Amino acid sequence: MPDTITITDDRTGKQVTVPITDGVFPSSAIRELDPTLYVYDPAFLSTAACRSAITFVDGEAGILRYRGYPIEQLAEHSTFIEVAYLLLHGSLPNEAQLAQWQHDVTHHTFIHENMRKRFVDGFHYDAHPMGMFVSALAALGTFYEDSKELWLDDSRRKQILRLIAKTPTIAAMCYRFSIGLPFNYPDNRLSFPANFLNMMWRVGEYSVDPVLERAMDVLFILHADHEQNCGTTAMRVVGSSHADPYSASAAAAAALYGPLHGGANEAAVRMLGEIGSVENVPAYIESVKRGEGRLMGFGHRVYKHYDPRAKIVKQTAYDVFGVTGKNPLIDIALTLEEAALSDPYFIDRKLYPNVDFYSGLIYQAMGFPVDMFTVLFAIPRIVGWLAHWEELLDDKDQKISRPRQWYVGSPERDYVPLTER
Ligand code: CMC
Repeated sequence: MPDTITITDDRTGKQVTVPITDGVFPSSAIRELDPTLYVYDPAFLSTAACRSAITFVDGEAGILRYRGYPIEQLAEHSTFIEVAYLLLHGSLPNEAQLAQWQHDVTHHTFIHENMRKRFVDGFHYDAHPMGMFVSALAALGTFYEDSKELWLDDSRRKQILRLIAKTPTIAAMCYRFSIGLPFNYPDNRLSFPANFLNMMWRVGEYSVDPVLERAMDVLFILHADHEQNCGTTAMRVVGSSHADPYSASAAAAAALYGPLHGGANEAAVRMLGEIGSVENVPAYIESVKRGEGRLMGFGHRVYKHYDPRAKIVKQTAYDVFGVTGKNPLIDIALTLEEAALSDPYFIDRKLYPNVDFYSGLIYQAMGFPVDMFTVLFAIPRIVGWLAHWEELLDDKDQKISRPRQWYVGSPERDYVPLTER
């Protein structure tokens, strides 16, 4: 059987045959057939908008790999800082490269004092930390004159380092502001996750528990990239206009904020709290089936199988509970998962727990308030956004993103004066 597809325009009888490569065929076939013809594809269900060598997801088989490495192996053996190098550079670093990378990230963690004092002080005392975080990313770019030098290698590298290194500092700053605690400066002697936990929690004497440090690192690894999701697509779309990476990252973070995307971990914990006890699970499942809401942390556009990240998060939860004590919501979550996975409604629709189902329980057990959860997702995801942003800028196939529309509005009509309407 040839690996081609032939499209016939029945209006004219014209045919175009193009190759199918890795399950993809070029849309140039449509343009060749009739340059005024467009494909209607809301939410990009059947559209590959780029070629990417960063992350591989096989949703049917439940496989996730960064640059070819299975997520399970990275979560077991690697660190977030090494994974960040891998995602951005394409290969694992050797010892010297890792040491240099770690040094470079560590030495960009401080933010300008005006960011902390003037910018953050403008927010209302109970501002949502994710709203502050989104704005802070865009604001950060205004501190760097070279932020718009996208085509100078040194400058691009520097913006990438700044964004990765300063994101935890900004995240912790947003949290400390929201509860009225003074800001903790970064401590460059600590690892990436330990520095973040220290900035979050230190009041007087504080030392980071190694189990919690490792759990944070694993969660950062799991959230570092997930190919062309809503946030990454926002990064690419905004990046395609050659906006600076701070503005593009702010757009990506705004996309992540939504409850159908990175906001789902917050929504999942709120949902478990609302369910309240394992006895209420069957009634809750029935209400979801009646269309009275969704099971948050369940279902995925790509995974039609157990999300491989959710499995690792579930294991990690028990390590964390060993230190913090069990989050009582875990029993409701386990009962809910079991009930959903044996219910034809969820089975038929291939709805499984996704990464957000259990991650919120860990965050909560570690003491993070629910409105910080999406910020915790954004800290590592900045790496994925930047890897995609760079790939986009260097991709000769890419241009400014500009989809077409199917106009369904009024045909031409004449303006009617106000007195005659
Ligand atoms: N609970 C109940 N029913 C669901 C759910 C859910 N969580 N997700 C999908 N469905 C049903 C949906 O009602 C539809 O049923 P029907 O065919 O009868 O109309 C069917 O499954 C297909 O749903 P869809 O909305 O067409 O699927 P989608 O691919 O557009 O949506 C999703 C994917 C993730 C937005 C969706 O599954 C959802 O809303 N999940 C809850 C929110 C969530 O957990 N999001 C986090 C996703 S993973 C991390 C990330 O991306 O940030």
